[in-house]
Amino acid sequence: MQAVILSGGEGTRLRPLTSTMPKPSVPLVNRPMISYMVDWLAGHGVRDIVMSIGFLANGLRAALDEGGHAGVTIRYVEEAKPLGTAGAVKHAEQFLDERFLVLNGDVLTGVDITAEIAQHEATGARATLALVPVDDPTAYGLVLTGENNRIEAFLEKPAAEDVPPNPRINAGAYVLERDVLEMIEPDENRSFEHDVFPHLSSDEIYAYDASGYWLDLGTPERYMTATRDLLDGRLESWLTERLVTTGRVIDTGVDVSGCKIESPVVIADGCALGDRSRIGVYSVLGHGCEIGENCELERAVLQRGCSLGDGVTVTNAIIGPGAQIGAGAVIASGSVIGEGATVAADACVPADCRIEAGAEFTHADGVTA
Ligand code: GDD
Ligand code: MG
Repeated sequence: MQAVILSGGEGTRLRPLTSTMPKPSVPLVNRPMISYMVDWLAGHGVRDIVMSIGFLANGLRAALDEGGHAGVTIRYVEEAKPLGTAGAVKHAEQFLDERFLVLNGDVLTGVDITAEIAQHEATGARATLALVPVDDPTAYGLVLTGENNRIEAFLEKPAAEDVPPNPRINAGAYVLERDVLEMIEPDENRSFEHDVFPHLSSDEIYAYDASGYWLDLGTPERYMTATRDLLDGRLESWLTERLVTTGRVIDTGVDVSGCKIESPVVIADGCALGDRSRIGVYSVLGHGCEIGENCELERAVLQRGCSLGDGVTVTNAIIGPGAQIGAGAVIASGSVIGEGATVAADACVPADCRIEAGAEFTHADGVTA
């Protein structure tokens, strides 16, 4: 089976992490986000992946090459301008088989796509969409179904008053017949959600009732949820085996003897940890981070090459690659610090603050470029 992964969105809600790298290459527990999707697909026998990309395309290619996904061929199809979800697949048409999968690339999931394909074949559908339950569907595509899982209505980003009890949403995992692409004009911006699915008749488009782990990674809050879930082993991943045996994944070369480690944590190679620092639960340190003495980290995600001076406190925050945090600084919950940014010594970064890539943060109340 073949799969197209849609990875051309700008990821605006994940800024500043996505200001300097495309969303799919943003590291999630030290691997590019998209590599979890490639692993999941490979686990279901997908060997041929077409990556539909636009924004900052080269970064994505480099990040995936580094991951080395054995036995899977990945081809890249670039757009000069964003063509929308359906326009992007149309743009890749020459590479596509008679039947293929289309995946939203910003989702972390373990749903049973093999069962979805089997259902698609059994019903003879032109399109089968995996659906998952969520509490609030207003940020997603709400799907209403009738008899035998036929899809009767597709409401993208519905108003709260249109939401029925026990709503299910489009999980962004489709099985499509190639002839669906005939509905899409080439080189135009078109979306499956607005321009294709609502125009298929109910005997052509079916819902697959998915169960298992599913999360849209589009916001910093959900990124942190995904980090915790991976460290808790709620989704099978490259971490699972080591987490089960030791509750932590710490590269062998890292000396943790002077500090306190509270599992589960993940610490990559090349990290240097100062004495009396506490690496608290759900923290993730990327390659080559330097942590001073007496630091307090909890639910702290530090991407590669960050440096923290002595006595820094980081709680439930994401720090982009190569950022430098001065001694005594406090990074409060929900903050996201962009690549290469600096935070001055003793500064307080307030809750939910965003510091742009390369910016210099000096006080609690201001950022100077
Ligand atoms: N190549 C390409 N070109 N990819 C694109 C483009 C484009 O112009 N626009 C969006 N994408 C990719 C994004 O990178 C993302 O992986 C996927 O298509 C979905 O786009 P988002 O912008 O993340 O959409 P959303 O999260 O608001 O809503 C979509 O996903 C929900 C599930 O997470 C919809 O499909 C909803 O119906 C769905 O419920
Ligand atoms: Mg999304």
